[in-house]
Amino acid sequence: MGNLSRLLKESWALVEDQQDKVAGYFYARLFLTDPRLRDLFPVHMDVQRARLLGAIVHAVQTLEDPEQFDSYLRALGRDHRKFEVVGAHYDVVGAALVEALRTFAGEQWGWEYEQAWKDAYAVIARKMQAGAAEDDNPPFWHAEVVAHQRYGRDMAVFTCRTSTPLDYRPGQYVSLESQYHPRVWRAYSVANAPRRDNLLEFHVRALGAGWVSGALVRRLRAGDPLRLAAPMGDMVLDRRSARDIVCVAGGTGLAPIKALIDELTTYNRTRWVHVFLGARDRDDLYHLDELTQLAARYPWLSVVPSCSEDETFTGERGHVNEVMSRYGPWAEHDFFVSGPAPMVRGTMRTLSELRVPSTRIRYDAFTEW
Ligand SMILES: Cc1cc2nc3c(=O)[nH]c(=O)nc-3n(C[C@H](O)[C@H](O)[C@H](O)COP(=O)(O)OP(=O)(O)OC[C@H]3O[C@@H](n4cnc5c(N)ncnc54)[C@H](O)[C@@H]3O)c2cc1C
Ligand code: HEM
Repeated sequence: MGNLSRLLKESWALVEDQQDKVAGYFYARLFLTDPRLRDLFPVHMDVQRARLLGAIVHAVQTLEDPEQFDSYLRALGRDHRKFEVVGAHYDVVGAALVEALRTFAGEQWGWEYEQAWKDAYAVIARKMQAGAAEDDNPPFWHAEVVAHQRYGRDMAVFTCRTSTPLDYRPGQYVSLESQYHPRVWRAYSVANAPRRDNLLEFHVRALGAGWVSGALVRRLRAGDPLRLAAPMGDMVLDRRSARDIVCVAGGTGLAPIKALIDELTTYNRTRWVHVFLGARDRDDLYHLDELTQLAARYPWLSVVPSCSEDETFTGERGHVNEVMSRYGPWAEHDFFVSGPAPMVRGTMRTLSELRVPSTRIRYDAFTEW
């Protein structure tokens, strides 16, 4: 472990069990220093939802070598333009962060710890600001919902049209804000390749008490305005690769996979594409008919649906990674994996057992746990 990383971990250990208090102090400090900053954050901000502090601490702790995360941090900085963050805000946030840590760390806090946080934060902030400065795009795009359809208990597919073209690559995601929760943004994968008519399709599952997903599934309707931020993510096709492709999707993890298939339909003649689609039960296989029709039309495409909790399902049963491993061999394929974190973790484990090199796997996990 490097010296900087050791200092950051040791000092965080001094406050770790007081995270709520640190967060409370951090935000109070921030809004006292510059009350206008409060308008950048969601209206309701209990500590659990105070995401910024958690995100910064996570970034500082994990990005041991920020040079390695250059492209992620630049993209994050570009993305922060949607919050209306400007350069001067970074200093205020950095100062509030260090003051909050110092206040709760007690007597063991020393100048070395303080310098470590200042240094790590400065590198990250500089990269984020550079990313924001070099971006010619607008901070966000306006869009209007044109269609919304519910599926099963808790899913919806909707399309919206942006007023100006939003340039993205199939497989990428954008963050999105609706009128039902102003200033609360969440990431959603676009489910189609870019179109001339600027239509974008999204697949959403309402999660427990989840704010944004609940509103997108149950309240959103045609005519509603949305704001979309710049595309992110690298789960995209490498057109130079001649390898056959395996896609493993869980639930709404199908969205980016559908976008990849959409792109492949425009040029692919030579690569076999195998899609493994996992869900809990038949109701959750919301776009299976559409995929089956695509597979009938494009001979290179095959689709294997599976259910993990449906005794009555007549197709494959079990977790989607187990189902995928029953087929194969897969040693020479490119992989795309997306869905809830446990499903993505399970699939990565299976692929490692199958000795698939990690350089051939691209993935996006939709949840943190
Ligand atoms: C790269 C990326 C791409 C994504 N793409 C998509 C996509 O295409 N489609 C999609 O639907 N989502 C996608 N997500 C997830 C999405 O960004 C949101 O995290 C998700 O919709 C939940 O947001 P929320 O505001 O509704 O929930 P939040 O208000 O953020 O919080 C979720 C809260 O709800 C509760 N909760 C969450 N999950 C569960 C659960 N399973 N059971 C019970 N309670 C739960 C917990 O209390 C949790 O704290 C993506 C995420 C990432 C990172
Ligand atoms: C090192 C610097 C920073 C890092 C690493 C960082 C990182 C992040 C990340 C990863 C998120 C998303 C969290 C999530 O929703 O899951 C976030 C949210 C946010 N950030 Fe930053 N950020 C930084 C600096 C700033 C600054 C200077 C501001 C300006 C005040 C800012 C304002 C916000 C706001 C308003 C949100 C949304 C918070 C919410 O929804 O509650 N960030 N930040």
